This record gives sequence, C-alpha cells and structure tokens, in this order.
Amino acid sequence: MKKQLIHLFLMAATLASAQEKGLKDYFKDYFPVGVAVSPRLLESAEESNLILREFNSLTAENVMKMGPIHPKPDAYNWGPADKIVQFARTNGLLMRGHTLCWHSQAPNWFFTDSLGKQVDKNTLLERLRAHIFAVAGRYQSDVYAWDVVNEAISDAEEEFYRPSLFYQICGEEYIAKAFEFAHEAAPDALLFYNDYNTENPVKREKIIKMVQELRAKGVPIHGIGLQGHWSIYGLGKERFLESMARYASLGLKLHITELDVSVYPSENGRREKRPDEPDAFTPEMEAQQIEQYRMLFEVIRQYRDHISSVTFWNLSDRSSWLDNFPVRGRKNYPLLFDQQLQRKKAYPVILPAEQQ
Ligand code: GLA
Repeated sequence: MKKQLIHLFLMAATLASAQEKGLKDYFKDYFPVGVAVSPRLLESAEESNLILREFNSLTAENVMKMGPIHPKPDAYNWGPADKIVQFARTNGLLMRGHTLCWHSQAPNWFFTDSLGKQVDKNTLLERLRAHIFAVAGRYQSDVYAWDVVNEAISDAEEEFYRPSLFYQICGEEYIAKAFEFAHEAAPDALLFYNDYNTENPVKREKIIKMVQELRAKGVPIHGIGLQGHWSIYGLGKERFLESMARYASLGLKLHITELDVSVYPSENGRREKRPDEPDAFTPEMEAQQIEQYRMLFEVIRQYRDHISSVTFWNLSDRSSWLDNFPVRGRKNYPLLFDQQLQRKKAYPVILPAEQQ
C-alpha cells in the first residue's frame, strides 16, 4: 500500500512538473528554446523531466560530429545519435543537427590515405560528400536545421580563413561544397554557418562577407549560427546591439546555437587549474551573471523577428563542458539551472516582460 502511494505521488509530481511552464512556454511567441545534450543525460529521469518541462528543441552536444559518428572510413556509429533523435521524436521536440564539417573532432583518417599520406582535394571532397550524404541523409526527416560548416573563419585579424586541413587541402571551396552536399542530401533542411566570437567586429565582418559571397554564388545557405559562448566579462550591450544589427541586415535566419555565460574571463589556450585558484560561485559572480543574462535576452528579444531559435549549450551547472575548458578541473556555473537542477536567479530576468 505504502509502495503504491509513493508510486502515485511520484507520478503526480512528474505530471505536475511536466505541466509547469518552462522556457519553451514563456518564449512560445518568440522562438523555440533548445538544449545540447548527450545520450547519457537522457537516461536520467530527473534531467529528462527538466528538459521536457523547459525546452522544445535538442542539439547533440557531440555524437553527430564527424569523429564520433564516422570513426572509420567504413564505419558509422549511429547508436548514440539515434538515441537523441528518438527522444526528440517521441517527445515532439525539434532537432538541430551539429555539425557536418568541422576541423576539430574530425577523424584523422579523413585527411590521410592508407599509407598515412595527406589526400588530395578531390579525395577529400569525395569523402566529405559521402559523409554528409550518409549523416544528413539518415536524419533527413528529423533534423530541420543543420550547422553545416563550423568555425571556418580565423580569429586572427590578418587572416581570413582558419588554416585547417580542410582549407589547406581544398582552399575555401570546401565550404560551398559542404553546403551543396547538405542541400542535396537533405533538401528540406535549413543550412547554417556556425561560429563563435561572432561579436568581434573584425571576425563579424569576415563572416558577413563570406556568407554574402556564398549567397551571391547561389550556394544554399539559409542562416548564421551565433554560438553565444559568452561570459560575465566582455560582451557589452552596445557591441551586442551593433553586432545584431549587422547580422540582421543580411535578411537571413539567425540562430543562437550554443548559449552559455561563463563566470570567468575568456582565456586563450588550455591550462591546469592553479591550486590557489578559487572556483566557487560567489555572490558577485551571481549578480554579474544575472545582469549579463538580462542584457543578452533584452537584445535577443528585441531581435525576435530575426532570431528563430535559441539553444543553451548543456542543461545545468551540475556538469557542463566549461567545467574543464579552457582550465582543466575548474568548476564553472554558466547555465540557468544550478547543480540541484533548480532555476537560478538569472532565470526569471530573461523572460519576456509580459511573462515575469
Ligand atoms: C564549439 C563547438 C561545439 C562544442 C563547443 C564546446 O563551440 O561548436 O560543438 O564542441 O565548442 O563544447
């Protein structure tokens, strides 16, 4: 009897939490709100309930990337990606695809022949085509938008394209090709160029120039993914507004694809945590993070006619990629849910005024 009561209580609690409003409801007149996940996260009832209460879009954090999904020339590892797609399908969530062509987390075999020699341009483009056809083709009826090319623009002011192996072997042509392959493989999918540090005026103008040139050549590209790996330091309102105005002027779709707000200043290069380096979530960090989230969403809401999706990169402060990057072993607190999966104080401040 006691067991049955507990069971009933748990069912009621799950139902209540599923019915409680979440971000997806508060922003229903604005844009879908998504979260990047691993298949393992979806196995946790606690975390999947939170996802279903708050979000209506998913991105695979890692398992659709080139290396994880295509580890060997003739072997695709579909299982983990299928699991996320199945969860989205069962629960009626949108699915964003991430990512078809990226220099990082790409498998080494992609760029070398059986003797270990670097392949030529034709071979690499043929491999890219086969990869994109397999992946975008498989998820054609589930993935409505793909990050086709990720991070092709250089951060260095004097350099236009990132000198990745794709670029070294093919020149800039691989970018247009990736979009053409994706369009052929999944004709209904919206196709995005995705990058970080997109508010830096020099990088921003390079991205805009590249996208305009691709459009002028008739390449099927429908939008820009602004990753949104932000911090409580750095990006100010004026710069963000100026940046959004520039991107919006293109008339293409804009998605915020990887939103988080680190509580540390951004750093270049990986390093170990120093033993004396504090990593607690201090009241000062909390206050600054609330203000940064408030400002970011003021601008994002202002650009609602241009921004058609906002995705957070990870679910809660319990665990995020920023716990280890760029400083190994340093805890970060970048998201809207704390380590107990509760809404943080930044949560209500991002909501549209009529919902607060
Ligand atoms: C980049 C990539 C993402 C992810 C993050 C860190 O932004 O686009 O796929 O790897 O870095 O998690």
